[in-house]
Amino acid sequence: MPKILVTSALPYINGVPHLGHMVGCLLPSDVYARFMRMSGYEVLYIVGTDEHGTTSEVGALKEGMDVAQYCLMNHQRHLKTYQDFNLSFDFFGRTSSDQNKEMTYQIFEALDKNGFIEERTIKQIYSIDDQMFLADRYITGTCPYCGYDKARGDQCENCTKVLEPTDLINPKSAISGSAHLEVRESKHLFLNLPKIEPQLREWLKTKEAYWPDVAYSIALKWLKEGLEPRCITRDLKWGFPVPKKGYEDKVFYVWFDAPIGYIGITKQWADEKPDSRNWKDWWQEDKDVYYVEFMGKDNVPYHAITFPATLLGTGENYKKVDYLKGCSYLTYEGGKFSKSENRGVFAADAVTEFAPDYWRYFLMSNIPESSDTSFTFDLFAGVVNKDLNGVLGNFVSRVLKMTASKLGPQVPESGTMTELENNLLKSLDEHIKLYFKYMNMLEFRKALNELRAIWVEGNNYITAAEPWVVIKQDEKRAGAILNVCINLIRVFAVLSAPVMPETAQKMLDAFGLKLSSESLKNFDINVEIKALKGGMPFEVGNTLFERISPERIVELKAKYGSAQS
Ligand code: 2FM
Ligand code: ZN
Repeated sequence: MPKILVTSALPYINGVPHLGHMVGCLLPSDVYARFMRMSGYEVLYIVGTDEHGTTSEVGALKEGMDVAQYCLMNHQRHLKTYQDFNLSFDFFGRTSSDQNKEMTYQIFEALDKNGFIEERTIKQIYSIDDQMFLADRYITGTCPYCGYDKARGDQCENCTKVLEPTDLINPKSAISGSAHLEVRESKHLFLNLPKIEPQLREWLKTKEAYWPDVAYSIALKWLKEGLEPRCITRDLKWGFPVPKKGYEDKVFYVWFDAPIGYIGITKQWADEKPDSRNWKDWWQEDKDVYYVEFMGKDNVPYHAITFPATLLGTGENYKKVDYLKGCSYLTYEGGKFSKSENRGVFAADAVTEFAPDYWRYFLMSNIPESSDTSFTFDLFAGVVNKDLNGVLGNFVSRVLKMTASKLGPQVPESGTMTELENNLLKSLDEHIKLYFKYMNMLEFRKALNELRAIWVEGNNYITAAEPWVVIKQDEKRAGAILNVCINLIRVFAVLSAPVMPETAQKMLDAFGLKLSSESLKNFDINVEIKALKGGMPFEVGNTLFERISPERIVELKAKYGSAQS
């Protein structure tokens, strides 16, 4: 059995995670990690903050803070948000760590030794008043095509034309507003991607048969357009200084050390947890690891092309991604999430409105796997009211309340299985097999459809078996029906746990049980349906999910902003 390595895109330190970030990589990586652990695999799940680059320097400047302090503060903020969402990472690290520096240097030196690093002189815009080179997007001016006066040096937002900073009319620094700019020449290091391309193509071909289309097609498009050498150094202060003569005053480009961060963070985890495995057990090709990466489609090129090429160029045996789960985007009420315009639900606020499982279930059942999807409060409330409150929550409270009031708060004795139960088990078995199949294939929408279908089977069974009618003539048979229903509550809890860990535990709390770590391993419904024996005491407990009223929807829309005009 291979070990499973799971990573999610590492969120930018200055970013504020919204529902789109959650569903695009963080949440599915957690659901998958939980599912694989519960299926009996050894899993290492690594996340962390992506901390280098101009945006961190600018963010710190705005807050009047030292960059390192700013990053530490924001690292804690990210960590808290993901913990509130119950992400079960083994370690939440930082790309600015000493371990990542060591890994970055090691990888850079191997690339350099193998002849994949070249020097080039490039022209860049220098801001005399800011005393720094400006990244393209930190230069603003008037677009020469449409006249828009807030166009950025990389692209005009108004007419979408891709620009060079030197195209802008009246260019200014976006940091200070100063127009005191000049073009300066500067020497930089480039990763020679064309030279690594043959090895890269060979490696990528092995993924063709089974990577999801979102990921493989983006990788192919890049290859088709032709690979160019990529600049991996920057004239900044915040970053890892380049360990090469003549480059001491430059740092590595954030996209060079960020993906190496997965290895660096694993090393940090191994250093900080004395009983953990050696990091090499996860990052060497021959260690029987299956590596799954989760990310939004904008990150796919880096993980399908540049990072694998970086690792291949070292000539060392580094583990490369086996399965790349690329997701499309979640939009907010049809438009963009925007912190500055106060539009959209951000992860830290989401959990103050509803418990994390409301979001986890909604997002995973609407994950934008093959195309962009829009979040709307109407859709959210519909799913919560119908699936969570109506189907799952209602079944649980109905069964427990009915049993407690008619027969007392103990699990009734089981009885002989009739055709009704045999049919139920047969249908459940089919849905459960599909649920496992789709979870293993990382097809989450389909998996969640099966999960919902499993809950529906419970409702259909109790409706057909009518224990409230049967009890009038045959208390024993009614008890046997409710025994099946109560066992279904446990089955639903275990199967739902990767998606809704808190709710699953709440369901088991009724019986004083703890979710066991490998409870999805060799899962057989014919065995599981008999797990809770007659006589076991239970508590009815509180409602699992509240309905969302039309008035509340109106309030939420007003609070978080409605469709973009
Ligand atoms: O898009 C982003 O949020 C990047 N910070 C992702 C980096 S992923 C990895 F390479 F670190
Ligand atoms: Zn324009």
